[in-house]
This record gives sequence, structure tokens and C-alpha cells, in this order.
Amino acid sequence: MRKLAAGNWKMNGTSAALAEVSALAQSHPAPRCDVLLCPPATLMSRMADVAKGTAIKVGGQDCHAKSSGAHTGDISAEMLLDSGASYVILGHSERRSDHGETDAQVLAKAEAAIKAGLTAIICIGETEAERDAGRTLDVVGTQLHGSVPAHATAENLVIAYEPVWAIGTGRTPTLAEIAEVHAFLRTRLTARIGSAAADVPLLYGGSVKPSNATEIFAVPHVDGALVGGASLKAADFGAIISAL
Ligand code: G3H
Repeated sequence: MRKLAAGNWKMNGTSAALAEVSALAQSHPAPRCDVLLCPPATLMSRMADVAKGTAIKVGGQDCHAKSSGAHTGDISAEMLLDSGASYVILGHSERRSDHGETDAQVLAKAEAAIKAGLTAIICIGETEAERDAGRTLDVVGTQLHGSVPAHATAENLVIAYEPVWAIGTGRTPTLAEIAEVHAFLRTRLTARIGSAAADVPLLYGGSVKPSNATEIFAVPHVDGALVGGASLKAADFGAIISAL
């Protein structure tokens, strides 16, 4: 399967940051993996313009489950597609915690995204308290089952395992812990969507940086990364892309 290096800019970046996209396109004209950047919605169409004709794809960070209507401040999957996106991140732990998103809401958004023609990157992951209580597999298994559309395919689905306690903290699980969760997710995904699960990229996310990318990418069933902070600078994200 083709691997994926995905950058989530979160609520970072104004026009000046588009220079990083040009720099990344120049330094990585023909990467071995797929490369995706998910900017804030305000930059989407301008980033798509900068990325046009390069190996970089662009994606959203969230979408509404409806295609249009009276939902102030929200953006639909169709709107993302129209502004140049081909992917959308859904159910990120910051959406789940800041906006109270449930598995059922993430599922509805994913169905809308897939119907519109986007690839849904569905995020799951345990909190530190859940890991300490030995509930990691239980939590991610429940999130996966509740958030992933049963009809999803390898062409329109990516799963990102992001332990909440590893996001933006500089801390990561051990390689054995990542391996255990990713192998479990492959099995649970097969139960959810069938044999297509073998070709769905499973990304690891949470404090991925140039110095740890190579060892994380060597873990079985790790097919790429969802990168936050280290995706903001072309040099750092470029080094991660080169490691994949
Ligand atoms: O979506 C990205 C993740 O939340 C990881 O963020 O690389 O800054 O830890 P981070």
C-alpha cells in the first residue's frame, strides 16, 4: 500500500505560511509516499493553488454532516472539495474534547465526506487515564467501531491512531505499544469493513518528529503519520516525509 505523510496545521498559519508549502514542494518534488497538508479553512483554496501541479494534496480538518444549510460557522464536505481538498480529518481528539464530538457524529461526518468524494481520516486514541487503567484497546476498538462507516473502502478511508497524551507533549508510546495498537486496529477494522481493511493506511500521530520518524515507521502496520507541530515547517515535515 502507498504510505501517507499527513500534516495537520490545526489553528496555525496565515498567508505568510504558504511559503512553507512552496518550499516543501521544491524540496520533495517526487516523494515515495503520498503527502497531505490540512490547513485552517481560511487557507484552503490558496494552499490548493500553491500545491497545484506538485505532489502535495490538501485536506480539511473537519466538516459538517450536512451538505448545506443554517449551520453558522460550519463547512460542508462539498465546500472542502470545491476549495481543492481531497481529504478531511474527522474526530480529531481536539474536536472530540473541545466540541464534544461523539463517535456517532464522527460517523455521520465520515459518511458525508465519503459521499462527497473525500477521503476521511478518522482519528481515534485513548487518554492517559484510559491507558493507565489498561483500557487502551477497549477505547480505540469502541471508537473505531462507532466512527467508521461500514461501507468505507481502502480508497476513501484512513485511520489515525493518536494517543491523546502524546499529542503536542513530546511524549510517545513505546514502539511495542504502537505495534500492539496498530495490529489490533487492523483486526478490528477487518471486522468492521471486511478485507478492504488490509489496504487502509493506519497512521500513527502524536509527537512525530524527524528524530523519531524512522523508528516509528518501521513498526508493523504503521503506514504513515499524522503530524501536528512538525508539519508547520517544510524542513521538519520534509525530513519526516523522507523517512517514510
Ligand atoms: O493531528 C496531529 C496530532 O494531533 C499530532 O500533533 O504532532 O503536534 O503531537 P503533534
